[in-house]
Amino acid sequence: MDHLIAPSILSADFGNLQRDLEMVNHSEADWVHVDVMDGVFVSNITFGFPVIKAVQKHALKPLDVHLMIVDPDRYLKDFAQVGAANITVHYEACTHLHRTLHTIKDLGCKAGVALNPHTPVALLEDIVADIDMVIIMSVNPGFGGQKFIHNTYKKIKELRQLAEYTNPNLLIEIDGGVDESNAAKLVETGANVLVAGNSVFSSADPLAAIQSLKHSRSLHQA
Ligand code: DX5
Ligand code: ZN
Repeated sequence: MDHLIAPSILSADFGNLQRDLEMVNHSEADWVHVDVMDGVFVSNITFGFPVIKAVQKHALKPLDVHLMIVDPDRYLKDFAQVGAANITVHYEACTHLHRTLHTIKDLGCKAGVALNPHTPVALLEDIVADIDMVIIMSVNPGFGGQKFIHNTYKKIKELRQLAEYTNPNLLIEIDGGVDESNAAKLVETGANVLVAGNSVFSSADPLAAIQSLKHSRSLHQA
């Protein structure tokens, strides 16, 4: 499978969100990554349902909703209703992760689990078969434009190994500090989805930035 690109609208121009979403529509991107932050799980606050509804109206690609919120169970239905295709909750925010994931699936969405940089992949051993995708955070969640954490490569390898028999189709998504310099190596290591905020929206040519992430291949893969 070719890897997928999910531009994160956290770094878009909110005054021109429709314009930026149309750029994504015309690009080689596969999903639109939507970061929801509650000011509690992470210190930042982003946006809620009315904004996501507006995003859904203009986006032609599936919405990949990343919930950086405590007690996400309270809102799963609402996120499905405003158009989320994928809903990812944080491992660190869920007491009953198995139930949460199955609620997401019952709502007709793909169910994801995100791991903070300090959370070991091994903690997913007894739940990995129930997960559609794992977001390995390659920065501490909360803000765009941070520096990529190198230990991510090790986590990708460990997760691929962990899922080898029970969930070979597991999608591994990398979120934070992804750019042209690390995209090829991430894919080569086993990532299937690359989220990119700053490296797309701060680029002078966002379409080209997406294209280059989509076609990143390491030399011996070409
Ligand atoms: C960070 C968010 C990311 C963020 C990535 O908390 O989950 O999705 O938008 O942004 P960049 O690509 O700028 O690191
Ligand atoms: Zn995110």
